[in-house]
Amino acid sequence: MKSIDDIDYGTPRSEAEREVTLEIDGVAVTVPAGTSVMRAAMEAGTQVPKLCATDSLEPFGSCRLCLVEIEGRRGYPASCTTPAEAGMKVRTHSPRLAELRRGVMELYISDHPLDCLTCPTNGNCELQDMAGAVGLREVRYGFDGASHTAMAKDESNPYFTYDPSKCIVCNRCVRACEETQGTFALTIGGRGFEARVTAGTGGSFMDSDCVSCGACVQACPTATLTETSLIRLGQAERSTVTTCAYCGVGCTFKAETKGEEVVRMVPYKDGQANDGHACVKGRFAWGYATHQDRMLKPMIRARITDPWREVSWEEAIAYAACQFRRIQAEHGRDAIGGIVSSRCTNEEGYLVQKLVRAAFGNNNVDTCARVCHSPTGYGLKQTLGESAGTQTFRSVEKADVVMVIGANPTDGHPVFGSRLKKRLRAGARLIVVDPRRIDLVETPHVRADYHLQLRPGTNVALLSALAHVIVTEGLLDEAFIAARCEDRAFQQWRDFASLPENSPEATADVTGVPAETVRGAARLYATGGNAAIYYGLGVTEHAQGSTAVMAIANLAMATGNVGREGVGVNPLRGQNNVQGSCDMGSFPHELPGYRHVSDATTRGLFESAWNVDIQPEPGLRIPNMFEAALAGSFKGLYCQGEDIVQSDPNTQHVAAALSAMECIVVQDIFLNETAKYAHVFLPGSSFLEKDGTFTNAERRISRVRRVMRPRAGYADWEVTMLLSNALGYAMDYRHPSEIMDEIARLTPTFHGVSYDRLDELGSLQWPCNDAAPQGTPIMHVDGFVRGKGRFMITRYVATSERVNRRYPLILTTGRILSQYNVGAQTRRTDNVRWHDEDRLEIHPHDAQERGIGDGDWVGVHSRAGETVLRALVSERMQPGVVYTTFHFPESGANVITTDNSDWATNCPEYKVTAVQVMPVAQPSAWQQQYRDFNERQLQLLQAAGAEAG
Ligand code: SF4
Ligand code: SF4
Ligand code: SF4
Ligand code: FES
Repeated sequence: MKSIDDIDYGTPRSEAEREVTLEIDGVAVTVPAGTSVMRAAMEAGTQVPKLCATDSLEPFGSCRLCLVEIEGRRGYPASCTTPAEAGMKVRTHSPRLAELRRGVMELYISDHPLDCLTCPTNGNCELQDMAGAVGLREVRYGFDGASHTAMAKDESNPYFTYDPSKCIVCNRCVRACEETQGTFALTIGGRGFEARVTAGTGGSFMDSDCVSCGACVQACPTATLTETSLIRLGQAERSTVTTCAYCGVGCTFKAETKGEEVVRMVPYKDGQANDGHACVKGRFAWGYATHQDRMLKPMIRARITDPWREVSWEEAIAYAACQFRRIQAEHGRDAIGGIVSSRCTNEEGYLVQKLVRAAFGNNNVDTCARVCHSPTGYGLKQTLGESAGTQTFRSVEKADVVMVIGANPTDGHPVFGSRLKKRLRAGARLIVVDPRRIDLVETPHVRADYHLQLRPGTNVALLSALAHVIVTEGLLDEAFIAARCEDRAFQQWRDFASLPENSPEATADVTGVPAETVRGAARLYATGGNAAIYYGLGVTEHAQGSTAVMAIANLAMATGNVGREGVGVNPLRGQNNVQGSCDMGSFPHELPGYRHVSDATTRGLFESAWNVDIQPEPGLRIPNMFEAALAGSFKGLYCQGEDIVQSDPNTQHVAAALSAMECIVVQDIFLNETAKYAHVFLPGSSFLEKDGTFTNAERRISRVRRVMRPRAGYADWEVTMLLSNALGYAMDYRHPSEIMDEIARLTPTFHGVSYDRLDELGSLQWPCNDAAPQGTPIMHVDGFVRGKGRFMITRYVATSERVNRRYPLILTTGRILSQYNVGAQTRRTDNVRWHDEDRLEIHPHDAQERGIGDGDWVGVHSRAGETVLRALVSERMQPGVVYTTFHFPESGANVITTDNSDWATNCPEYKVTAVQVMPVAQPSAWQQQYRDFNERQLQLLQAAGAEAG
């Protein structure tokens, strides 16, 4: 069911440039060719009754309620399926049409349980509206015939209910699942009167392929498919447009609320990243915000073995400030630092790095992008000149060939995944480069032309082989290169790519991908029309992550696939605001806008605005902070909204580093794993509790709007401000819009950004300034940001993480649709119904060799550590490679990942860990220690509650 105040035009907008003028009820209307008569009427201000049509789906023409009269045509055509034509004269209302429409409605209503007063969508139901619109006054067929009103509900899905008694078989849900989501989980089973919506092969929704995206619920015009939360809470009183706080797609939602309670999240049809679609996380998994585990009181303790003590905000902030100043007095200015969260807003990220630079007086600030997309920042800056993706998501609609490298969009970036699948169903070709057989390789009506199932850790060799084919087979876009790229660098790169050692034949042994497959994929990418590359952490989280990003940029430049719609280099950012946290100067070497701290002019700008001296040397990266902590020179950390203990590699190393510090201040909504090592806990606020902005993977800045008061009293930006003031560096913002104004003043790519502008335009893609007042949807259109594009030599160097007899398998890690990152939010929702533990995926061959069956407990040993998980025997894996997710702390996926990292950025090599896997009967030693530690920490937490109580 749509949001309470959405306008529905009945059929999608036509993109045609040619226009036609027709007459509707005597009024001339001009619309793009291909517009339906129904939509043309709506645009002229006339509503035609409808049930099976909705503007997010192609017209279907089944309900016959939208009949119209067209001069010169016989009968009564359906306006939803009739295209507007020049000179047409249409009548939407006449006595005969009214009679026909009432007849249709009578049939529907005669088979409908007339329980409107107790129906959850009473007052927001299209069937009810249409009964009113056609003036239905009687039902001549009575209500006593055969009917479906006693059919049982399907309540298997935790988030929505299917009540078949209310179904009018309009097919909107089936079409939404196909057209919008691309899952094809629903069909209409049976014929005529027996026809009903069926999930999968006739079982429940939970037993079907349904991924719980909610598109069918959104499309349903009746209460047949209704959100469980709406059934429970009743209809909302108001709605607020805001942005999802999960992944880097950055979907826009209408948060529908009643008082301080969220009734439901409705994907916003004008949302520029999602066009009204969403996934199970953003649409349904918001219950964590009011979960009983939310931490709502500040707490302090001197040692991590002490019980927590609940204190006032004033005391907690004063204690943290006093500890930080003491540490600096005893161990030097650089003994403390801060971590910016990619889950928090731009404004909050900006304030944390400002606090570190201005109040701590050093550059020891870093962000979790360090462990995901820092190589993107480095690699794209070197080659194209800007540390960000080049396109809009919509641009994929113009792509002819899509290469997906080390990304799993249907799980990690689901709404983009659906958009991509739609384009693929329409005929675009697909190349998947991934060690695993991800869903995109073969999914309903989509099949990859090439799946380059390489061995983890060999991306650069494979990308060089693709380049070799393009260069040696004469597939370069010479004109583009001559006009747009540095000649000398290109010549060097061409010579390098041509080397026999880079040929697909020579690299096949390393990558495991047959040479002919590589050649075919390279030819398709270079000659198949508009070719776009989408990549993820499977590219960046490697010892050669930055090299691989540069190799991708080389391919795009070599084939002229940059600077227009349908092409480009597109990093799929993991967390909601990874792009934004990087933009905001969260790295130790860069001020906001990616300007190096060593640049005196930039520093001068910030120094005069902030009235402080800024250190000219880069500060510590996260791994350096850990090293320094273990060495005794780094003693204090302010960590906002990140869970480094769970998310960073080599958990035991991280835990040891944190245990060596004297004051760790954690600001989070839950007592996360890092907080168990903390001395000060400051309650965080969820995205529902604050104003701000997020920047998604398209560089799109979107508003986050507060829909409820901060549950612990302060939004995160206010807490940073309190801490800064307590440290003696004054910050005085009354609203995040003032922080954005400061960012805009100091950052050339943000000069044109303001909350007023965002309210006016919905969202903005940076750069947004005098040169681009409406923002920049596509980058590098007339030239590269750095002037000429620079090809970089990308020599393959095998990772030092090698398999051997002791560790013969390679472990690689990733995500699953229903869970998000460290799982702190999604584990506290009904999403656990889909995934309640991390499993180790293993190929049947490797499993059999070790006597491992599906569901068995297995020990996973690496050079860094050991953990125990249950096995999932799966042919998605190639022999020799195992895979797991890292959503549950007790699985300890990062106990086994190593300290290896990208040569340029220190991004950890999560994707390659040599392991051995064996059946076991009990948890690992680490897991036993973790359980004991966790239990002890929860007792120390309870002590705080008991004392306060
Ligand atoms: S929730 Fe999504 S996947 Fe499931 S049936 Fe509905 S549209 Fe299909
Ligand atoms: S469930 Fe809703 S959308 Fe689907 S056919 Fe029935 S009434 Fe139409
Ligand atoms: S695709 Fe990403 S941004 Fe969109 S609803 Fe899902 S988690 Fe949120
Ligand atoms: S709305 Fe046109 S036939 Fe149903």
